[in-house]
Amino acid sequence: MNKFTIALLLLLCTMACTHKPDHSGETTLKEASSIPIGVGVNYDLLKNNTSYAAIVKTQFDRVTPGYQMKHAANVKNDGTYDFTKTDDFMNITSSLGVKVHGHTLAWYQNDNATYLNTLDTAQVGNALHDWVTTMVTRYKGRVTGWDVVNEAIADGTGALRTSANSLSGSGYFFWADYLGRDYIANAFTWAHAADPEAKLFINDYGLESNSRKLDSLIAMVNRLKADGVPIHGIGCQMHMSIYTRSSGIDSALQLLAATGLLIHVSELDVRINPGNLTPFTTTPALLALQAQQFRYVAESYFRNVPAAQRYGITVWDLTDADSWIVKAGNRDAPTLWDSSYNKKPVFDAFRKGLQ
Ligand code: XIL
Repeated sequence: MNKFTIALLLLLCTMACTHKPDHSGETTLKEASSIPIGVGVNYDLLKNNTSYAAIVKTQFDRVTPGYQMKHAANVKNDGTYDFTKTDDFMNITSSLGVKVHGHTLAWYQNDNATYLNTLDTAQVGNALHDWVTTMVTRYKGRVTGWDVVNEAIADGTGALRTSANSLSGSGYFFWADYLGRDYIANAFTWAHAADPEAKLFINDYGLESNSRKLDSLIAMVNRLKADGVPIHGIGCQMHMSIYTRSSGIDSALQLLAATGLLIHVSELDVRINPGNLTPFTTTPALLALQAQQFRYVAESYFRNVPAAQRYGITVWDLTDADSWIVKAGNRDAPTLWDSSYNKKPVFDAFRKGLQ
């Protein structure tokens, strides 16, 4: 081999290396981080899209199903269960070697309201008991933690969320309308009875930007703890934008961590066009702000959450094509990968924040 050939080979190798996928040497998110890194996933994509599944397997320790473990995904109109897809989802996650964070047992959305609306108060109580017990028992030992209660606090007032203080829509069912605030303690107690090993979370959004809601959630958590309710963690969703203030991120994590419970950044995404302005172009400047924001959350988490309370950080949806925000019709790009499955600038920045 002459010098020219060697130089050419080196050049080709360098070019190949810079474009290679992660299993060829580039540090992945889970390798970079000492805490579990998760991603909200779509069952159909995980099952049918090999590029999607490969990224999930390579980059992440854990997944949270975006929809598949919710009430409407498993309960039929006559109230009977069909776990075919959820069982399949669990098998796929096993074969990918990722852990599963269960999401979510008692929420006011994505419920089979057709069934639940046929019940009277006593029957609603039994339906919640049966649903929580059946789900947690069925996936016992395979689901490491559960978002038992989701979004229990109303936005404006910080009061318990009911139909009176929330918007309604298809698939909405407000457990609190029937059961009052007791549904929360009961759901935790039933989940714990079904799987004493699972870490049980209350999960909510807007905590980094709405201090009244944050205070109200913390007061609720402290009451549950004082009453001996088995609650182990708080999920701070962090659906944010490039304009979310860093002081709000810091104080949410500090105050949540002061409860002593596990803290999960459970649904992180960062909108670059939160006003949904049109026309809209994704610019390098906006992508740089997004990168900064993801990195800030990771750094703030390590700064403000003591090591023993770090359940991990989960980003919500893998790519801009499958982001729930984009699928809802918004012109945005809230995730780490673009819609062609290329890493965005935010990937590197987030990874640096995790190191
Ligand atoms: C969203 C999912 O991403 C969608 O796929 C689904 O259709 C609706 O729910 N807060 C939550 C999540 O706790 O369950 C929501 O996920 C996003 C807001």
